[in-house]
Amino acid sequence: MKTPFLNYDRIAPEYNQRYSSAEPSERGQALLNLARQVRAGDILEVGSGTGYWLNLLHLITPNLYGLDFSMGMLQQAKEQPARLKLARGAAIHLPYRDDSFNLVYCVDAIHHFGDQRAFIAEAFRVLKPGGVLAIIGNDPHDGTAQWYVYDYFESVLETDLRRYSSAETLLYWMRTECFQDVSSQNVEHISSVHVGRGVLNDPYLKHNATSQLALLTGGQYQAGIQKINAALAEAEARHESIVFRSDIQVKMYLGCKPT
Ligand SMILES: C[S@@+](CC[C@H](N)C(=O)[O-])C[C@H]1O[C@@H](n2cnc3c(N)ncnc32)[C@H](O)[C@@H]1O
Repeated sequence: MKTPFLNYDRIAPEYNQRYSSAEPSERGQALLNLARQVRAGDILEVGSGTGYWLNLLHLITPNLYGLDFSMGMLQQAKEQPARLKLARGAAIHLPYRDDSFNLVYCVDAIHHFGDQRAFIAEAFRVLKPGGVLAIIGNDPHDGTAQWYVYDYFESVLETDLRRYSSAETLLYWMRTECFQDVSSQNVEHISSVHVGRGVLNDPYLKHNATSQLALLTGGQYQAGIQKINAALAEAEARHESIVFRSDIQVKMYLGCKPT
């Protein structure tokens, strides 16, 4: 199946709402630690969106490059306090010379890239010898994730299983594209509980809050909301409350280009 295309230009103006906390999240801290560890002087984020993660990395280096397909997201990234070197382009044809970066990474983005293995090969090409690729995201294949959205919105889990590669596949592609010291680690545990009607205030339940819901048509999205409302009404009639859980492990896959 072709990767479903999501028009991020439409979502761009609201996208940064998810980054309301002043403190870097656990994955932000993991990125900072990694950039320090590899003494990254030149850093590229692919699928850099609004530039939130690149902006965090200004503590490490001023040479921060962001590549994204969406002009709307790039416009938002221009507003970041750090001066970012931004370009529009596709992850599978990186417009950079061989051996340019100490760190190439992507966050919550590789499942949009179409040919994910081609992106890994491109990352290898543009990394300097000794440089590191970090892919950060979820793995809906590992069966441990609990996300109530998967229960109430038809086809969302199936679509995720098609567009996300499993951990094993990503690690296999990294090895076959000649990365060394390939490994994975958990970098963030997303955990929240909404009880009863409180779920209707979950910011991640908004239509454009996640790519999973944004890919749904208005009708499909409303059908899911109606299913939640019907379940709430049934539970209330029994004087019970439904507990809506989100329990997702975010992983970071790492590989090093040999020196
Ligand atoms: C979920 S957003 C993540 C943005 C940012 N990494 C973050 O975590 O805030 C995914 C981003 O990938 C970009 N994207 C999707 N397909 C792409 C492609 N083929 N090449 C480059 N960027 C792409 C989208 O435009 C969007 O900005």
